[in-house]
Amino acid sequence: MSKLALNGGPRLRTQPFHRWPHWGEAERRALEAVLDAGSWGGYPAPNRFAAAFAEQFAAAVDAAWGVCCTNGSVAIELALQAAGIGPGDEVIVPAYTFVATASSVAFCRATPVFCDVEPARYCIDPAAAEAAITERTRAIIVVHLACNMADMDAIGALAKKHDLVLIEDGAHAHGHRWNGRGAGSLGDLATFSFQTSKLLTAGEGGIVTGNDPILRDRVASLVNCGRKEPGWDGFEGQMLGKNSRITEFQAALLSAQLARLDEQTARRQERTARLEARLAGMPGIGFTERDPRNDRRAIYQFIVKYDPASFDGLPRDRFLEALRAEGVPAEGDFYVPLFRDELFAMDPRTNPIAGGDFDLEAFSAPVATRAAYEEAIWLPHELFLGSEADVDAIADAFAKVRESRAELSA
Ligand SMILES: Cc1ncc(COP(=O)(O)O)c(C=O)c1O
Repeated sequence: MSKLALNGGPRLRTQPFHRWPHWGEAERRALEAVLDAGSWGGYPAPNRFAAAFAEQFAAAVDAAWGVCCTNGSVAIELALQAAGIGPGDEVIVPAYTFVATASSVAFCRATPVFCDVEPARYCIDPAAAEAAITERTRAIIVVHLACNMADMDAIGALAKKHDLVLIEDGAHAHGHRWNGRGAGSLGDLATFSFQTSKLLTAGEGGIVTGNDPILRDRVASLVNCGRKEPGWDGFEGQMLGKNSRITEFQAALLSAQLARLDEQTARRQERTARLEARLAGMPGIGFTERDPRNDRRAIYQFIVKYDPASFDGLPRDRFLEALRAEGVPAEGDFYVPLFRDELFAMDPRTNPIAGGDFDLEAFSAPVATRAAYEEAIWLPHELFLGSEADVDAIADAFAKVRESRAELSA
């Protein structure tokens, strides 16, 4: 008789895990406050709740300023545009990330250049980034991924040496710290997403943070249809901006969510440490390595590394099918290596970079490719907001599927 739920056996975990998003009275009061204020939109920009949240968030990440916007994809585009990236420019991006990290470059009519990630931490590989620099390179976007931060010392030095704009894509990074400083304050500009799954959420939303006041004025103008408010005199001329303003409802929700972030970060750290301890020693199961300079870790999607060879050749995705059937939500193909994404091979009439001198075949990123198709198991962060028993159920499900793996290859 088979034991695995996938084959009709009893399901190991029948209870739901912790709910996400998480909210309470604070969020209810925040929404009511906006309702009663009667000024719900982002104009005049920044409106009251958006200005307050931007200040709170910037302070939390040690940045001098923050400008809210509609989402994390737009935030990257705004950062690139404010930095003056445009046609003919190349921007180095990691190959292992969400499509928006690179499509935002295409929206600026610049060319994304995909670069491999480090095997230990899945963040951009500084040596590969340096090798990708040409005379057209103008910027590097790092993505803090897999509960890790990009090596900001090495990438910061590289950006300085080659006079490149450094942008942190912090969509997974709310709460990370590097040598005591917040992710979001370490480059020229940084961007965050507040989309539903993110560590800080209002359903949708985004922010750009930074330290340079001129870049702040440029981003603020771009967000607000290119308006140049009195006092925003740090740049010449006018910006070609759209309405990318956040609503007051979103901003008020985000202030309430921000007040919960530190406690949630600590809880996720405790729970993921428990999972690591429980899975330690299981053949074929490992974790990304921790960089001691990353002195506080944000746990967005927790990564478990899977080695098919130690599972008698059982492919990761088959293992995950069985794990999900036991009641543990886990994904493998969270991201594909971006140079394999059809988007970048599209019709040149709809994709500004396709069809030019953009040769997808030229890219190779063995670490990102192995992570995407064979190795990485992504566990959503809300699994680690609940009880120790929740974590034990995850570990038990891994053990159950491992022990019964012969059932899966039959
Ligand atoms: C790494 C990364 N960058 C950018 C984004 C874009 O954020 P949004 O969905 O808010 O546009 C995401 C969101 O999923 C992301 O994961």
